[in-house]
Amino acid sequence: MTTSKLDTILLDFESFLQSHTPEAQSFHPHFQKAIWEMVKNGGKRFRPALMFCVIDAYVPNLLHHAFLPALSIEILHTFSLIHDDLPSIDNASLRRNHPTLHIKYDEVTAILSGDFLNSYAFYLITQSSFDPKIQSSLISTLSFNACQMIIGEALDCYFENQTLNFEKLQKIHILKTAKLIASSLKMGGIIANLSKQENDKLWDLGIILGLFFQIRDDLIDATYTQEKAGKPTQSDEIKNSYVNLLGLQNAQKELENQIHQIQSMLHTLDEKLANNLLSLLKGYFNV
Ligand code: IPE
Ligand code: IPE
Ligand code: MG
Ligand code: MG
Ligand code: MG
Repeated sequence: MTTSKLDTILLDFESFLQSHTPEAQSFHPHFQKAIWEMVKNGGKRFRPALMFCVIDAYVPNLLHHAFLPALSIEILHTFSLIHDDLPSIDNASLRRNHPTLHIKYDEVTAILSGDFLNSYAFYLITQSSFDPKIQSSLISTLSFNACQMIIGEALDCYFENQTLNFEKLQKIHILKTAKLIASSLKMGGIIANLSKQENDKLWDLGIILGLFFQIRDDLIDATYTQEKAGKPTQSDEIKNSYVNLLGLQNAQKELENQIHQIQSMLHTLDEKLANNLLSLLKGYFNV
């Protein structure tokens, strides 16, 4: 898939997303609007893009059918961001270049919007055109790994101000970030009806990709301005981030190592899938 084909799919997906945010019937003055705001505010849509790379490689005729499951991952991920930004978690005032929901409205609105999206994500999968066995497999992958993400968030918060060793840091990052990223590839594999062996390979790549993504995110926190990142930066000081544990230079080296590992893993994949992933990832290999 060329970069422009991926861009076209993502543009299509974006219009799909913008028009699939139904207003719940309610007489609340702002809640129905607040629920969808952070979803509509944008973001890189990295997880849907990963899923599309797999679908396009194996079953391109199913790309549009995969929009609902892709939206489901994006909505679940957005819920995780809304709650991650809450005062009692990371206390962030900006997300996707917009004020966070607890700043724009109040904490109740932010908590409940996250709750809504967390449940709605799974409902969306049941509305897709895939047969019940595939739907059930998608739901079990997403729900199990969303729970892993939450365990990761709990560890990340509990161990603030305590320096963990590298192994524990990796474990937190695998839980809080990598497993949802690996799920995006695996859900593509489920839709494409890949063998267990092929799906396991996608999973292993997804975990490395997720670790890469979190090191990159930690470097963004340390080196970007808030304007460039679209979220507060220099805010990981109390966290077990790669930059805090390894220092800036070694974290950058670790990122390079991950990039090399990803590139060599890509060579073991089906050629079309490897090319699709390369066109997506080249936009991420520079911080
Ligand atoms: C941020 O995710 C949280 C992490 C898991 C590092 P993204 O960097 O994908 O955020 P958006 O979706 O582009 O806003
Ligand atoms: C959050 O990690 C990962 C989630 C599960 C939401 P971060 O706390 O580092 O994400 P940012 O930097 O706020 O986007
Ligand atoms: Mg956090
Ligand atoms: Mg955060
Ligand atoms: Mg971060």
